[in-house]
Amino acid sequence: MGDEIERRGEGAVTPTVPWEYAAAPESKEIVRIQDRYGLFIEGRFVGPLSGRTFETINPATEETLAVISEAGPEDVDLAVRAAEKAWESSWRDLPGRERAKYLYRIARSLQERSREFAVLESLNGGKPIKESRDVDLPLAAAHFFYYAGWADKLGFAFPNREARPLGVAGQVIPWNFPVLMAAWKVAPALATGNTVVLKPAETTPLTALLLAEVIQEADLPPGVVNIVTGAGATGAAVVNHPGVAKVAFTGSTEVGKIIRRAMAGSGKRLTLELGGKAANIVFEDAPIDQAIEGIVNGIYFNQGHVCCAGSRLLVQESVFEPVLDKLKERLGTLRVGDPLDKNTDVGAINSAAQLAKIQELVESGVEEGAEIYQPECHLPERGFWFRPTLFTGVSQSHRIAREEIFGPVLSILTFRTPEEALEKANNTPYGLSAGVWTEKGSRILWMTERLRAGVIWANTFNRFDPSSPFGGYKESGFGREGGLHGLEPYLDLVPR
Ligand code: NAI
Ligand code: MG
Repeated sequence: MGDEIERRGEGAVTPTVPWEYAAAPESKEIVRIQDRYGLFIEGRFVGPLSGRTFETINPATEETLAVISEAGPEDVDLAVRAAEKAWESSWRDLPGRERAKYLYRIARSLQERSREFAVLESLNGGKPIKESRDVDLPLAAAHFFYYAGWADKLGFAFPNREARPLGVAGQVIPWNFPVLMAAWKVAPALATGNTVVLKPAETTPLTALLLAEVIQEADLPPGVVNIVTGAGATGAAVVNHPGVAKVAFTGSTEVGKIIRRAMAGSGKRLTLELGGKAANIVFEDAPIDQAIEGIVNGIYFNQGHVCCAGSRLLVQESVFEPVLDKLKERLGTLRVGDPLDKNTDVGAINSAAQLAKIQELVESGVEEGAEIYQPECHLPERGFWFRPTLFTGVSQSHRIAREEIFGPVLSILTFRTPEEALEKANNTPYGLSAGVWTEKGSRILWMTERLRAGVIWANTFNRFDPSSPFGGYKESGFGREGGLHGLEPYLDLVPR
């Protein structure tokens, strides 16, 4: 590198100094990972009655991090009973201001230990440390703070109605935002006076288990939050348990459908937050450089493992070429690699199974005739990796335009008129999110009134706030999480 700079100094013409970032690894020393973890039931870690365990790995290295308990039906039963007991004996009758104290404690503890949580999140899930540190953890803490604030104000949230908790909430969450999804589920449930049985995803159980420690330290009455680890069968045992009054699920549309069918007629309450295939729509009058950053954030954030990812880029034909040129150039600057390096933009794919799914869909894109572009980049030898990818020449019928890839893969389509953009954007079985890039406020309003998506960003993308409701239409699910809306699924609202 010194060499290159000298040559420039001597008047060499090559302006391309190959700038290399020095490695900037975050230390792993801050986390203590145990060899084995029990299930968190009634305030204690206990061995599984099932006798079964599984290993959890670091997807960036494929190294085993810990042995995790697999909860069988008998374990789930214990957890649900503990949650029922805690609800009946204390939690449901506790004044809101007392419930709030616990939530504030959890929120503060998440803030105090955020570095530890962030490192563990990146180790277990593969996401870049700058994202777990700057997005997942601050938002998780904010969610607890926000719902702590509502706990003693339910009367103001729902005037003239009595807000009664439902009982035990069975909550199943995915692996793309492990601790943040735990916060989205646990905080509103507790604020409204319900107790919880939470099942984290099988590939990313570690931060939920660290949250269990935080919950112990916060001195929550035993059984108010129980955490059972395991895979789909454990999740099914939770949602189908007769002692569960309300189910909240975030994950695939496929499993969402299974759950909804299984629960039909049970009288249980249900919210589903499922997949997406969001349109990110760029009009010719958009601030293009800003839009490029929004497009990149929309699809390469968290390796594209984002339900509301802007995975379909719709560009107005007149600006297609400059947008594509700038986008390709920007892709070349994304740093793919070690999730614990503070300069990494794109980390590891969460699992071998997810990598296989991405590869299969990308191959289908090539076979169906779309044109693939991937920047040069060096991928580590071990672990699960996928280059940032974009496709041009995509048509509406291609699988890569219709199916959720859940990886760092962007499908680009073009349009000529706002009507055509709208038609294409809404032509999807999903309806979770969308983005609109334009200078005209009137056009933003015209589009948002007509887009069938739960969340619409204007001149930005992937912005989250605990006070803003989030959720979908159609196969993206139903019910809202976040905001005042996020309280309702956990309450019976009875007219006074
Ligand atoms: P998944 O839906 O199978 O897993 C999500 C959670 O549901 C996990 O905790 C899992 O253990 C649990 N689960 C699985 N089967 C269950 C069942 N029958 N009953 C109850 N719980 C069950 O998702 P998977 O297989 O990890 O990913 C497949 C695809 O789903 C991804 O490629 C992506 O397209 C989509 N997905 C969407 C997410 C979102 O945020 N909306 C999150 C995760 C996956
Ligand atoms: Mg699955």
